[in-house]
Amino acid sequence: MHTTPIGKFIAGIPKAELHLHIEGSFEPELMFEIAKRNNIKIKYKNIEEVKNAYRFNNLQEFLDIYYAGANVLIKEQDFYDLTYAYLTKVNEQNLIHTEIFFDPQTHTDRGVEFSTVIEGIQRALEDGRTKLGISSKLIMSFLRHLDEAAAFVTLEQSLPYKEWITAVGLDSSELGHPPSKFQRVFEKAQEHGFLTVAHAGEEGPAEYIWEALNLLNIARIDHGNRCLEDEALVEELVKRQMALTLCPLSNLELKVIQEMHHHPLNTMIDKGLLVTINSDDPAYFGGYMNENYYGIAKALDLSKEQIYQLAKNSFNASFLDEETKKEMIAKVDEYYWKHG
Ligand code: ADE
Ligand code: ZN
Repeated sequence: MHTTPIGKFIAGIPKAELHLHIEGSFEPELMFEIAKRNNIKIKYKNIEEVKNAYRFNNLQEFLDIYYAGANVLIKEQDFYDLTYAYLTKVNEQNLIHTEIFFDPQTHTDRGVEFSTVIEGIQRALEDGRTKLGISSKLIMSFLRHLDEAAAFVTLEQSLPYKEWITAVGLDSSELGHPPSKFQRVFEKAQEHGFLTVAHAGEEGPAEYIWEALNLLNIARIDHGNRCLEDEALVEELVKRQMALTLCPLSNLELKVIQEMHHHPLNTMIDKGLLVTINSDDPAYFGGYMNENYYGIAKALDLSKEQIYQLAKNSFNASFLDEETKKEMIAKVDEYYWKHG
């Protein structure tokens, strides 16, 4: 990958990630190590067996395996190790900023304290800042297959840690769980000062994207692929310059698209949509940021200029303050002048 001119360009360009589930960065090697020290049995004999199980026909098949994998995370150190492993990996990929989702209910439902989860993640993010120079923000996601009351409990648990959390999000099984189900929780979260985002239009219809916009007041759409089925919606998203956090390898692995060259990225760019490239669940979908950029660049024959634009979009669509955005975009510009 890094040997082609476009591969080298992608590898070196400074970039930000805006759609990453920390539980989805759990590599099988670390999963076995943590399972062993916590005395938990996993149903696979070895790493190869785990990897063979990673074949999905849709979002739900993936989620079942993703939640099972998270079962071995028990202690604060486990959440630290998980998060720091991700940061180490993306540091090698010239990622300078990341906005990370975590799913507290995946853990609190198993009896792990909210504090254990967030303290481990936060400690790793701080080390990421001081030791690796990676800036980061945290987004707390509600599991949409659970009910509104459970989301309210989670919101309540998060309040002592408000300073560490920038936004709330909505993930898990999309079909049958529209954004409207969580309107009141999102209203309350906004009263507490959280920004809001939501997964919408990954498997669900364009209508769910409308709901996320109008009822959840989102600042960004996660995925949003199916917006293209509704012209008025596309117009609205362009008008608002509402960012979409696209995840090419995830789309391919979860059969949102059948082939990478079917990916709607170019259509979206042509329509004036603000799009970004992200990895979603890199340990499950075969690649981190650079692999996602490279996979789509190769399939759609993207130019260096287009990659440069996508990297700039990743900062413009981030939750960084305007000053920091400018500083980071200046680094992208400098890279493009030297290598473009
Ligand atoms: N949780 C982790 N990855 C997800 C995705 N791609 N869609 C919905 N929920 C998720
Ligand atoms: Zn996601």
